[in-house]
Amino acid sequence: MKVDTAQFKVIPNGPLQLSGDFELYDSQGEIITRQGPVFLCRCGMSSDKPFCDDSHKTAEFNG
Ligand code: FES
Repeated sequence: MKVDTAQFKVIPNGPLQLSGDFELYDSQGEIITRQGPVFLCRCGMSSDKPFCDDSHKTAEFNG
């Protein structure tokens, strides 16, 4: 089944998963990506923001 709309899912104690078609822009207004899935950091510990780099695991993020 093709997913035409963007879907956002909070991963427990982890990132925000974006799936489907969407446009994600950086702080300068440049498109980073147009399609998912991508995982955005929610814990603030990633060294690859806005993306998750699994640092939430060692940070024992709870949220
Ligand atoms: S949620 Fe994975 S590094 Fe922040």
